[in-house]
Amino acid sequence: MARSLDEGRRHIAAVSDGLSLRLAIQDDVPSIVKLIDASVRGLSVNYYSGAQIDQALLHVFGPDTQLIADRTYFVIESPTDDIAASGGWSKRRTLYGGDQHKGTGADPLLDPIVDAARIRAFFVHPGYARRGLGRRVFEACRASAEAAGFKALELGATLPGVPFYERLGFKQIERADATLPEGALQIVRMRRGIGR
Ligand SMILES: CC(C)(COP(=O)(O)OP(=O)(O)OC[C@H]1O[C@@H](n2cnc3c(N)ncnc32)[C@H](O)[C@@H]1OP(=O)(O)O)[C@@H](O)C(=O)NCCC(=O)NCCS
Repeated sequence: MARSLDEGRRHIAAVSDGLSLRLAIQDDVPSIVKLIDASVRGLSVNYYSGAQIDQALLHVFGPDTQLIADRTYFVIESPTDDIAASGGWSKRRTLYGGDQHKGTGADPLLDPIVDAARIRAFFVHPGYARRGLGRRVFEACRASAEAAGFKALELGATLPGVPFYERLGFKQIERADATLPEGALQIVRMRRGIGR
C-alpha cells in the first residue's frame, strides 16, 4: 500500500492556493465516491431532475478503477487532503460510466492511430467550481493522451459538462444517452483534436 501511495505522490504538481494535482491511487476510491456524490448533487440541479440524479449516482456515475490501474486518472487535493476535483483520460473503448455501469466485461484498448482517446469522469466539488480546476485536470489528460500517441479526444458529456467542454474546444457529435431504470439520462458525445 505504501508503494502505491509513493507512486501517486511522485506525480504531484502545484495547481494554486495549496492545491496539488497527482495521479489517483486505489486508496482514493472512497474519497472519489464522496466527491462524485457532492459534485453531481451540487452542480447538476438545473440540468437533471432529482430522480435522474439519484438514479444516475446509483447506476452511471462512479469511479472507473481501470483508469486508476492504467495511471490515467488524476485528483486535485486541497491543503487539508480532501479531493477537490478528479478526472481522467482513457486508452480504452468505454465512453463514460463507473465500474457499476461498465459491468465486468473486458474494456478493449483503442488504437491511437485511428481511435480517439476518451476524456472520462470529471467531477469538481461545488465549493471549488469555476476556479479552473476542471480545466487544469483536462490539460493534464490532454498532454498525457498526446504523449501516448493519440490524435483526437472524445467523451460523453453530461448536460452540465457541455458548456465546459465547448469552452475547451469540443464539438457536439450526437446523443449518447444512458438508460436508467426509469427513463434516461441525457448524454452528449463530443470530440476535438488533441493539440492545445
Ligand atoms: C463540468 C465541471 C467538471 C467543470 O469544472 P470547473 O472546475 O467548474 O470548470 P472550470 O472552472 O475549469 O471552467 C473552465 C471554463 O468552462 C466553462 N464552464 C465551466 N462550467 C460552466 C458552466 N456550468 N456553465 C457555463 N460555462 C461553464 C467556463 O467558460 C469556464 O471558464 P470561466 O469560469 O473563466 O468562465 C463541473 O461543473 C462539474 O463537476 N460538474 C458536475 C459533474 C459533471 O457533470 N461532470 C461532467 C462529467 S462529463
